[in-house]
Amino acid sequence: MRVLSVGSEIYPLVKTGGLADVMGALPAALSSEGITVRSLVPGYPAVTAALDRAESVLRIPDLFGGAAEIRAAAAGRHDLFVLDAPHLYARPGNPYIASNGADWSDNAQRFAALCRAGALLARGAVGGFVPDLLHAHDWQAGLVPAYLHYEGHAAPPCVFTVHNLAFQGWFPAHLLGGLGLPASAFVIDGVEYFGGIGFLKAGLQFADAITTVSPRYATEIATQDGGMGLDGLLRKRGSAVHGILNGLDTATWNPATDEHLAARYDVANLAARAVNKRAVQARMGLAPDPRALLFGVVSRLAGQKGIDLIIEALPVLDALGAQLAVLGTGETGIEASLREAVAARPGRVAAIIGFEESLSHLIQGGADAILVPSRFEPCGLTQLAAQRYGAIPVVSLVGGLVDTVIDANPVAISAGVATGIQFGPVSEAGLSDGLRRAAALFADPDKWSRMQRNAMALDVSWTEPARNYAALYRSLTSR
Ligand code: ADP
Ligand code: GLC
Repeated sequence: MRVLSVGSEIYPLVKTGGLADVMGALPAALSSEGITVRSLVPGYPAVTAALDRAESVLRIPDLFGGAAEIRAAAAGRHDLFVLDAPHLYARPGNPYIASNGADWSDNAQRFAALCRAGALLARGAVGGFVPDLLHAHDWQAGLVPAYLHYEGHAAPPCVFTVHNLAFQGWFPAHLLGGLGLPASAFVIDGVEYFGGIGFLKAGLQFADAITTVSPRYATEIATQDGGMGLDGLLRKRGSAVHGILNGLDTATWNPATDEHLAARYDVANLAARAVNKRAVQARMGLAPDPRALLFGVVSRLAGQKGIDLIIEALPVLDALGAQLAVLGTGETGIEASLREAVAARPGRVAAIIGFEESLSHLIQGGADAILVPSRFEPCGLTQLAAQRYGAIPVVSLVGGLVDTVIDANPVAISAGVATGIQFGPVSEAGLSDGLRRAAALFADPDKWSRMQRNAMALDVSWTEPARNYAALYRSLTSR
């Protein structure tokens, strides 16, 4: 079976979050299921610079104001189609926002262009790769099934994956015709969404199957509380909605071989983590204290992630004699409050504001525990990496964090299966309770190291998720 995957990010070429990790890892996992995947991504500078070879396979004379071409390309392990459209993508920095922090004003056209290219490829415009199925990811690819629907010819089935319902790709109604959508599309059963055009909504409306990245999140988004305005449509889609848990790229995330670590280790050699802890403390300006419980955070700095709750809970951290190391980038308000926290607690709280792949690995390999106090979390990958690296995740009881961590409650401790700490409600009080539970377990080295070993033994790989995607693809294509 041949699958065309369409999305805006792919690790290691362009990444702002977990979408890139999934787009980057799923193709290899699916190849073990006999499925060949090619990924269509925008030709951002970081993408075009990383291509090992590239060949023009389709010219599009006018794609929203400029000439474009689709190139078939290889980059490392990835087989790609790259949409080369310099007027839309040849811009430095973050894929979505300009250097002043505002969204690019032509994001509707930039991602509609990706969707048009996806629709062309889906229909077999490039003879060498005619897909049996299309897999579109997140709002940036949400118009692909809409274009296929309104163009009316036969098209392969489409799976649409929601990685995050909070990013909806909403644009004003007057753009409709310019995006190549008919007036008849501006209805509730079309692309219309709260008086504008909803890219994510369109994906949910027209895909043959919808997946999201954990079973728990699949149920949450069908409720008014978790549905962010789309729960009615999701309930209507009913059995077309599936929750398939994310995996982790266990080759990239392997503490036994990870070149970003100061010391590599496995489950039989957990003592080596102390070297990484020292390296995190040294790199981030924390006191070189081997006994202080070191909490790490690797996160986008967005309201979703509950970083403000960590800042509120700092007095509890003080009382526990713990340290905090944060790596993150995002909203300026959260960045500023982290800088203040660092200034107020030198040597005990540290933050590096930026996106650093290498340091993200070192923190996983050196922190004793990883905090993920999210208000909502479709799946979350950092708690998967944490468990693989023997850092104990302290997570809120939402979304994929429910599905991927075994809480150290009394029965799990006595059965010897706990892998982390889950807390609720998602509040300063809930998080503080989680921090205290972590400290109590950390003070009991037998229990703590048992949890580390349990966590490292979990199968967080893509094997089972890929099987689930393959089964879904097959149910739609009968191949
Ligand atoms: P989300 O996609 O919502 O941001 P996930 O937990 O699914 O959350 O994925 C986040 C991914 O991005 C992980 O691979 C994590 O290691 C990485 N990441 C987040 N922030 C940073 C950062 N500042 N530097 C390096 N990697 C980061
Ligand atoms: C999103 C979600 C995150 C998920 C990732 C990959 O960005 O916020 O929970 O793990 O996508 O699916």
